Formats: sequence, structure tokens, C-alpha cells
Amino acid sequence: MKYEITKAIKGEKVDFKNPNKAFYDALGHDNMQKMMYDFYDKIYESDIANFFPQDEEEFEKVKKKNTKFFIQICGGPSIYDESMRGVDLNKFMIDIHKSFSIYEKSRNEWLGTFREVLVDIDVDEKLKEDFWDYLDKFSKMTVNRYLKASTYF
Ligand code: HEM
Repeated sequence: MKYEITKAIKGEKVDFKNPNKAFYDALGHDNMQKMMYDFYDKIYESDIANFFPQDEEEFEKVKKKNTKFFIQICGGPSIYDESMRGVDLNKFMIDIHKSFSIYEKSRNEWLGTFREVLVDIDVDEKLKEDFWDYLDKFSKMTVNRYLKASTYF
């Protein structure tokens, strides 16, 4: 299935790789930025909007900062970590998300929102799937709350 969300399992080691730069190259900076802005605009109206700043101006800041991260992780210019050379970005990202109680359900909403944007992007399907693979896998590491029942089912 295309853009499948595979389950996050507590304690499971996640093997992921950063997206293929060809995705960023095919989109170009402006379209990548537009895709990310569209994603965050949808997040602002999603079921996980409460995780993010409610103030519109503050939310815009998050949107711009996070977009820079995604451009960089896709192989674009290092515009996100200019001020923090030497930091392991992926590890740093996992730590940042620890301040929030992210359940599997929150991740599903996050990924589901991304999927809505990604389906409309006019880029080679294989590259979109490779980008999705990064999102699906990396997002598992942002999940830090598990329902007790999920141990049994
Ligand atoms: C592929 C997975 C993900 C990536 C690459 C990612 C990336 C990022 C980045 C770059 C930031 C900004 C960090 C900074 O302050 O510099 C951030 C913050 C944040 N992310 Fe994620 N994220 C992912 C998944 C998720 C998921 C599943 C949620 C679910 C709720 C989430 C919620 C948040 C929240 C609430 C913030 C803080 C926003 C703020 O500054 O107030 N993220 N994320």
C-alpha cells in the first residue's frame, strides 16, 4: 500500500535513512517550502493542533523553523542548524519531542496530515515513497507514550 503507516513498537530499534536528495532536487526549494507550509497549515487545523503554539504568529515561527529542518534533512542547504554545528540532528530531534506526550494516535494524525499534502505533489512516485519512508520511520522515534493496553493487543 502506498504511504503506509507502519506501527511504532515500544523499545523497538528504528532503522531509517534520510530522504534521497533527488526528492528535494526534483521539487526545488520553493516547492519544498510550499509543501511544508501547506503541511503545517493543515496541522494548525488538525486534531494535534493543541501540541503547537495557538498564537498565530508563534505558529508561523514554528512553521518556518521546521521547514528549514526538512529542507536540510532532504539534502538542501544547511539552513536549519546554522547556529548549532556539531549537533547530531536526528538525536536532537528525538530529544525535542520528549517535551511532548506523543502517542501513536498523535503520530497517525501527523502522518495522515502529511499524506494529504504529499499525494498532490508532482514528483516521481518512487521519490515520494522514499520521502514517506523517512517520515514513517523517523516519526516512530517521536512517539514516547504508549497505552498500557497496546502491550497486549
Ligand atoms: C518525521 C517525523 C518528525 C520530524 C522530522 C519532526 C521535526 C520537527 C522539528 C524540526 C521541530 C523543531 C525543533 C526545534 O525547536 O528546533 C519539531 C518540533 C515539534 N514537533 Fe516534530 N517532527 C516529527 C514528528 C512529529 C510528530 C509525530 C509530532 C506529533 C505531535 C510532532 C510534534 C512536534 C511539536 C509539538 C513540536 C514543537 C513545536 C514548537 O516549537 O512549539 N512532531 N519537529
